[in-house]
Amino acid sequence: MAIKFGRPLERLRSVPAEAEAPAGRLDLAIRPRRNRRAEWSRRMVREHALTTDDLIWPLFLVDGVNVRAPVTSMPDVERLSIDQAVRAADRAAKLAIPCLALFPYTDPSKRDDDGSEALNADNLVCRAVRAIKKEVPDIGVLCDVALDPYTSHGHDGLLRDGVILNDETVAVLVRQALIQAEAGCDIIAPSDMMDGRVGAIRNGLDGKGFGDVQIMAYAAKYASAFYGPFRDAVGSNAALTGDKRTYQMDPANADEALREVELDIAEGADMVMVKPGLPYLDILARVKDTFGMPTFAYQVSGEYAMIMAAAGNGWLDGDKAMTESLIAFKRAGADGVLTYFAARIAEKLKKGGA
Ligand code: PBG
Repeated sequence: MAIKFGRPLERLRSVPAEAEAPAGRLDLAIRPRRNRRAEWSRRMVREHALTTDDLIWPLFLVDGVNVRAPVTSMPDVERLSIDQAVRAADRAAKLAIPCLALFPYTDPSKRDDDGSEALNADNLVCRAVRAIKKEVPDIGVLCDVALDPYTSHGHDGLLRDGVILNDETVAVLVRQALIQAEAGCDIIAPSDMMDGRVGAIRNGLDGKGFGDVQIMAYAAKYASAFYGPFRDAVGSNAALTGDKRTYQMDPANADEALREVELDIAEGADMVMVKPGLPYLDILARVKDTFGMPTFAYQVSGEYAMIMAAAGNGWLDGDKAMTESLIAFKRAGADGVLTYFAARIAEKLKKGGA
């Protein structure tokens, strides 16, 4: 609720000081600092809280056994073989993190122009979903729908003569979503920004008896430089020809984000997402205010890398920067955050420290 400043300020003027204020002391009735003077009081007036329920933890997958391969541009993040991903899922469940997001690093030998490995029911991500759902059944699993981990050109859709085809791509994405649902994925998250994909995927899922599989739409996803480290992690950076500006949104646009979100809701999205995170908090706040949907923010790889790089250089306190960045999402209206800090912040919350 907005505060009308007229009232208290009038009151301030109308209250006569009982006695002369001590020399140097301002005659102020209203002192916002009173509420901030002690930790118990700060806790009592705090408006927002981050809990582990707010976290979705993205994991990178790689073929092999017992592999934990560092991602150079994302300190403390590793590509995990399936057995290690199961261990991470177990850790996440113990920390009460509700959901994982899985991203495969696809061997270059399995990438082709059409991303056909996306339709292999035995691909890395599907095997990982099955293993995690078997060993850690109570954790949610979210899978991206997009072709970029599988295409030799690194784009999210089918590329013909320099153009990303929309409707032809959507047809493939529906099949990709079905394969992931069959593997046991709980939430399908289309991250490709093709027009009409949410409705087509919803139809496809419902038609095959997957009416309970949720859709979290990457509804307002911007063409961002902050995805760089992620593309290193999934190996699509070296491959990427050109950029994604014919399908991902222009960072200069805000009203368009509301139209994108509205379409995805109309097409059947259960949850919507804004991505990247911190540079787009204005979009997040408007989306939440306008639609009141379960709304998520993706604190993307570049945001993580910035905090970790500065912390690694001793230029800022990484732990504090992490915590502050995450509460900012809650303040802006997010119901949850996809963040590479998920396990770390969950450990901190468990100790009562955030
Ligand atoms: C794939 C996808 C991307 C991210 C999530 N899904 C990269 C991209 O669109 O190029 C980025 C996540 C991150 O940077 O952490 N479409």
